[in-house]
Amino acid sequence: MRKETWFVAVLVGAGLLLATMGALSSSPSNGEKSDFEGFDSLDEATVTENWKRYFPAQYEGWMRTSEMQETTYGGGGKAAAEDMDIEKINYLEMYPFLKVNYDGFPFSKGYYRSRGHYYALTDVVDTERLPDWEKRPATCIGCKTTDVSKLDAVHGDDWYSMPFSKVVGSNTIGCLDCHAAEDATVRHARDWLDEGMAHGTFANIEPEGRTDLVCAQCHTNYHFNAETRKVELPWTTGLTVEAQLEHYDAAQRSDEWVHPQTGALVAKIQHPEYELYHEGQEVNVHSMLGLQCTDCHMPKATDSDGEEYTEHHWTSPLTHVESTCMGCHSNWGSGGVIARAEGVQGRVYEKQNRIGRELAEFIEAVAEARSGETLDEVTLTRLQQIHREAQFYWDFIWVENSNGFHNWGEAHRVLDKAEALINEGMDVLDSV
Ligand code: HEC
Ligand code: HEC
Ligand code: HEC
Ligand code: HEC
Repeated sequence: MRKETWFVAVLVGAGLLLATMGALSSSPSNGEKSDFEGFDSLDEATVTENWKRYFPAQYEGWMRTSEMQETTYGGGGKAAAEDMDIEKINYLEMYPFLKVNYDGFPFSKGYYRSRGHYYALTDVVDTERLPDWEKRPATCIGCKTTDVSKLDAVHGDDWYSMPFSKVVGSNTIGCLDCHAAEDATVRHARDWLDEGMAHGTFANIEPEGRTDLVCAQCHTNYHFNAETRKVELPWTTGLTVEAQLEHYDAAQRSDEWVHPQTGALVAKIQHPEYELYHEGQEVNVHSMLGLQCTDCHMPKATDSDGEEYTEHHWTSPLTHVESTCMGCHSNWGSGGVIARAEGVQGRVYEKQNRIGRELAEFIEAVAEARSGETLDEVTLTRLQQIHREAQFYWDFIWVENSNGFHNWGEAHRVLDKAEALINEGMDVLDSV
């Protein structure tokens, strides 16, 4: 063997060894599924650590939701960190127009960019939105903890109307939210999703057999029932933004409030990832191809025994395009995929912020006109109606967490509608 060849062989050997060690440390064994014989009690199953010895690879992914990776438009934090004090991104400081648009509603008091599932409970415990735990509804933990299954079992729907202080525990989102305690099969733990689906208003998708319904437990728009305070999905008339506005128009909902500056009744939209991705009037190529949330956010991986498992680190897919996008987009190269995705996001991001500012200016202009003498009742009512609708359309896209990636055609359509309404309102103001 020539000296150089030997040298190369050693290098390759070392490389292989390192790669093996890397594989050992970064992807633990999937565990012996046969070891798992179910949990004896819900108490045991609500604690995610208890699943670790049966399913170490999935557990390890879940743990990594504590590591925030910032991308150009997404990711939950500014740096990787494992403690709870990781710097949070304060939306109210970053986008001052939000204080005007959400004036009179708790979101004007505290609003941060979402973080990983690891922080869900901490972030709702710490929120400045409703500091008094006796007045804050228990419903707020509905999307933040595995305790929901136990609360349902013990109290039925009665727990929703208890004070927050009575129900808050120490478990964040975990295995039990998506897997059954008896046999670990994929399931969803929130019956409000079944009630929402029972309206039968899905237009574009067939929910049967989909694994991504687990995400629809929490990544949808919702409001509370006015009496029971239980979560309700605003899907009685459909899932598109127009259908949901119709739903809100039919009765005043808990997430509506009278805006102090214009006197309009406006609604707060919450993270409609599921609706924007799968529904909408514009065709979304990725949903049409049959891709589910889980295909991009939970790609398949291989553990140290060479066994395939599902990645449980929910984060931005742009941090690992090789396993999520390249199967279809290899011709763009990984850099090209990210550049195109960010190109799509950049156009939506610019537009949603511009319209957010325009909405704030419109609100302030209406407030000024209202404080004068010249505005008659009919004109004011018309301006308030315009405010209600423009804010509904703008917020639907603003609070959706993908900056348009999940359905960019629909995002532009809905934002354009908001802007046309604001322009119409400004014309009305100019004419008085
Ligand atoms: C075709 C791939 C794809 C599918 C399918 C998909 N997403 Fe996404 N998702 C993305 C990309 C890309 C982003 C943008 C990430 C970024 O900005 O860094 C994103 C962003 C997000 C974010 C914000 C994450 C962050 O880092 O700020 C959430 C939450 C999310 N998606 C949830 C969902 C849910 C729920 C579904 C199913 C209804 C879904 N996604 C379906 C690709 C996908
Ligand atoms: C039990 C409710 C719940 C379920 C189920 C759930 N999520 Fe989340 N998700 C949340 C909450 C709450 C946050 C924000 C946590 C925070 O900001 O502290 C979040 C945050 C995220 C983020 C943002 C992470 C980041 O880095 O910014 C992604 C991505 C995400 N979820 C994807 C998914 C996907 C995909 C599914 C389905 C496989 C899913 N989630 C299921 C409640 C849920
Ligand atoms: C937000 C929902 C969600 C949470 C939380 C969740 N899983 Fe999963 N899990 C899934 C989905 C979806 C699949 C894939 C199902 C499929 O593709 O057939 C899956 C698959 C699995 C599988 C089957 C093997 C594999 O990897 O495909 C195991 C075992 C598993 N999860 C264990 C866990 C454990 C342990 C936890 C907690 C540390 C956990 N899961 C948390 C949604 C979740
Ligand atoms: C199942 C195959 C498939 C997967 C997986 C997939 N895509 Fe696509 N994607 C398509 C198809 C098909 C189109 C439409 C045709 C085209 O533009 O090439 C498309 C279009 C796009 C576009 C629009 C291109 C443009 O500039 O107009 C972007 C951006 C994109 N995909 C990004 C992604 C990202 C990011 C991921 C991973 C998170 C991903 N795709 C995963 C099939 C896929």
